[in-house]
Amino acid sequence: MNFENILLDQRNAILTITINRENKLNALNQATLSELHVALLDAQKKEAIRVIIITGKGSKSFVAGADISELRSLTPQNSGDFARSAQINVFNLIENSTKPIIAVINGYALGGGLELALACHIRIAGENAKLGLPELKLGLIPCYGGTQRLASLIGKGKALEVILTSDMLSAQEALQVGLVNHVTPLSEVIKKAEEIAHKILKNPPHAAACAIRAVNAYDTSDGFETEINAFTSCVETDEFTEGVAAFLEKRDPKFN
Ligand code: COA
Repeated sequence: MNFENILLDQRNAILTITINRENKLNALNQATLSELHVALLDAQKKEAIRVIIITGKGSKSFVAGADISELRSLTPQNSGDFARSAQINVFNLIENSTKPIIAVINGYALGGGLELALACHIRIAGENAKLGLPELKLGLIPCYGGTQRLASLIGKGKALEVILTSDMLSAQEALQVGLVNHVTPLSEVIKKAEEIAHKILKNPPHAAACAIRAVNAYDTSDGFETEINAFTSCVETDEFTEGVAAFLEKRDPKFN
């Protein structure tokens, strides 16, 4: 598939996906969501890709939300599918990815843009970032998982304040409430993500996938059982054999 709305750049084991609609502040139209779906599915299948970075083109915006020009066609009949298909095909796909996904927030992360970042496993923000869920201003509420993931990450009280006021949080405010993991100058935000990616790459991929599965289950009723099952599947791997042997032999482990 030829992509028109995203750019892909694979270096070593890191795939960077850049939303490429800079003149629309990288707003997510349906075509972009479809391309993201295809690119993410493809990346899941490629063993050579171990970590994914998602960012937006330019220095102003990560993603300024769903494409508002497409919202006019929403009706009570089609709005459920509009929300559900994007949740399943993109946002849940990211959250449940077996490969860690890092959001590099290089400016506005609003509405669907913040929801995209929330679905990722780690968030790094440039100092210029502004984050919010301003859907109420459009007479809507977030529909790509934002009400659930924001509350899960920063707590129900703060999430309700962010959503009910439509306020944008600065990068520092987002750091304070745990919405982003790190804040750096904009020029260093990709470098910071790559630094984290390289640390992840030193660890073995099956265990990383298991960690994501178990942590994702933390606020569900079977979180502890998911952890036990994921742990058990690690014990069956060469990664486990090598990791323990390397420690006991006082050497660095060799995974892959
Ligand atoms: N959907 C569609 N187009 C969008 C968009 C969105 N979510 N966000 C920005 N754009 C477009 C603007 O329409 C404009 O296009 P144009 O030049 O063809 O008119 C272009 O991107 C630049 O945006 P502009 O509003 O001129 O930039 P700004 O610096 O004045 O303001 C924002 C930046 C982010 C504050 C403002 O664009 C905004 O509020 N965007 C919508 C955010 C939102 O509500 N997101 C949730 C959607 S569910």
